[in-house]
Amino acid sequence: MSIRLLILGTGGMANNHAEGFAKIPGVELVGGVDTRPENLTVFCEKHSIPKGFASVAEALDWGGFDAVTNVTPDAVHFATTMPVLAAGKHVLCEKPLATSASDARAMAEAAARAGVVNMVNLTYRNVPALQQAARMVAEEAIGTVRHFEASYLQSWLTQPAWGDWQTEAQWLWRLSSAHGSKGVLGDVGIHILDFATFIAGQSAQTIACQLATFDKAPGGRIGEYSLDANDSAVMQVRLAGGALGVVHTTRFATGHLNDLRLRIYGDLGGLEVGFEGAVSRLRACLGDNRLTGAWEDVTCPDVPTVYERFVAAIRGEGPMEPDFARGAVLQSLLDHAEESAAQGGMSLSV
Ligand SMILES: NC(=O)c1ccc[n+]([C@@H]2O[C@H](COP(=O)([O-])OP(=O)(O)OC[C@H]3O[C@@H](n4cnc5c(N)ncnc54)[C@H](O)[C@@H]3O)[C@@H](O)[C@H]2O)c1
Repeated sequence: MSIRLLILGTGGMANNHAEGFAKIPGVELVGGVDTRPENLTVFCEKHSIPKGFASVAEALDWGGFDAVTNVTPDAVHFATTMPVLAAGKHVLCEKPLATSASDARAMAEAAARAGVVNMVNLTYRNVPALQQAARMVAEEAIGTVRHFEASYLQSWLTQPAWGDWQTEAQWLWRLSSAHGSKGVLGDVGIHILDFATFIAGQSAQTIACQLATFDKAPGGRIGEYSLDANDSAVMQVRLAGGALGVVHTTRFATGHLNDLRLRIYGDLGGLEVGFEGAVSRLRACLGDNRLTGAWEDVTCPDVPTVYERFVAAIRGEGPMEPDFARGAVLQSLLDHAEESAAQGGMSLSV
């Protein structure tokens, strides 16, 4: 089945989407949408996309597409996805699905009503170690899960590998709530909460969270940017099965550009799941190795990209995972974490 794809939002991340989809046989990039004409023109030329539109409404009036990949900023995911769902188009939406759990739930309900394929781009679902670890936990290789620790470490506030945060708008907006940022919690907290709870195969029952915003410039401000968004988040999470764990993330982890890790322990074994230095690695301590505390590497099969999985789901050849309903569950966790932090770190039922 050939699929005509519309790319909604033609900024930085949209390049990954365009390149990822262009590699899939039978997928045609037929149109782009952006409110900034200069972005749109450059993007469409670069990726040989024939049609450009200034709004979702214009693209829907034309209607010559089957599916949409939504790569607009977080704050416009809801407003741009809802009309597309109403028109019966399949949607892959960037994370986070929305900026509140109620909007995310409304999107999940609208997608279910429309009966279309709906997926959210939780990038680290592509990591082979994550998928293999989730399978092993589901098969009870480590027995009953009792304890876990998960971290997502970045260091762009202490090193210039990704650019200069003090002068570049793409970093400064992420430090300022007035510019739509929910800090490190809102930016990458969703990834590590998904990483931990997906592998554990359980939902969170309670969450407690503390957030910290550190002094980074005189008066807490650089130009128009008030640097008030959180830089570090530490959460305590109890899972539905009773296991207790910590989940934390920061932009101050000097030495770690972009590293995710989960250590998860059950009564029969332990797993260490890493995506550090962009390398996927799974280690396990199982069986007799528990006696000596020896760990062994586990081989993990490759995982199709989210773009390949979205296309497979449209063709009826694969599951629709992670879907909007999952995106809404994670959004609710983020909302509760924020609320907990506002109440001094009180544990809240999710
Ligand atoms: N999954 C990941 O690992 C990952 C990584 C980076 C970014 N993201 C997500 O991707 C999304 C886009 O991020 P980005 O870094 O590419 O941002 P960006 O600012 O570079 O690009 C967004 C584009 O959307 C356009 N836009 C804004 N409002 C619009 C509207 N109403 N209709 C059409 N176009 C509109 C902007 O003009 C801009 O060109 C965000 O939700 C972000 O969280 C996800």
